[in-house]
Amino acid sequence: MEVVIVPDAAAGGEVIAEAVAALLRRKPDALLGVATGSTPLPVYRALAGKVRAGTVDTSRTRVCQLDEYVGLPAGHPESYRSVLLREVVEPLGLSPDRFMGPDGAAADVAAACAEYDAALAAAGRVDLQLLGIGTDGHIGFNEPCSSLASRTRIKTLTEQTREDNARFFDGDITQVPHHVITQGIGTILEARHLVLLATGEGKAEAVAATVEGPVAAVVPASALQLHPHATVVVDEAAAAKL
Ligand code: GLP
Repeated sequence: MEVVIVPDAAAGGEVIAEAVAALLRRKPDALLGVATGSTPLPVYRALAGKVRAGTVDTSRTRVCQLDEYVGLPAGHPESYRSVLLREVVEPLGLSPDRFMGPDGAAADVAAACAEYDAALAAAGRVDLQLLGIGTDGHIGFNEPCSSLASRTRIKTLTEQTREDNARFFDGDITQVPHHVITQGIGTILEARHLVLLATGEGKAEAVAATVEGPVAAVVPASALQLHPHATVVVDEAAAAKL
């Protein structure tokens, strides 16, 4: 595992955007795994700047979603599909038909999970999977004690994660869904390159457990230690406990 310490979130965004740009110059039809939350936004903004400047061509880039809330109506502004359309697909000039994700509004959620796992397998390996990290060490929505071999499935959020994410729902925890669809840890580990970005002191504990702790289901992100090509980019605040 490679650990890159940068001064701040903007610098982390720039470092990762450059890695994505280099991938797309080498492989224009690369499959990019994209994450939500506030942490990856500087990456998407830096990358959008490169697209506008004409230094990277995204016309053939494919993107796939990491996770999704269950039960939000289609088109809800905080569904991860809506967020990624707004923050990634549109600013990067991607074609919406090259964007894949699970159907969080499906009547049969288990079938939607199996369908998405099959669609991912059919799309070939993810070339670069961008990840954030929860304060409890979750990746995607794989909460602590998720199996390290798990596939895409329905999960129940912890109270901690619902509290953390309430800020996206006007601070009202009652609006935060209880259930989600997430790529499993086993699914995530199939990507060719995993890039985790963590910024701010609130992530310092989770980063230390991920990088220096034992590989354990109680810290889902520690599974990155098992991956042959994992990069953890942290700002100085998030690196404070390393
Ligand atoms: C959510 C997402 C994760 C993300 C985490 C951290 O739970 N499912 O993919 O890493 O939030 O979010 P933030 O980056 O806003 O701290």
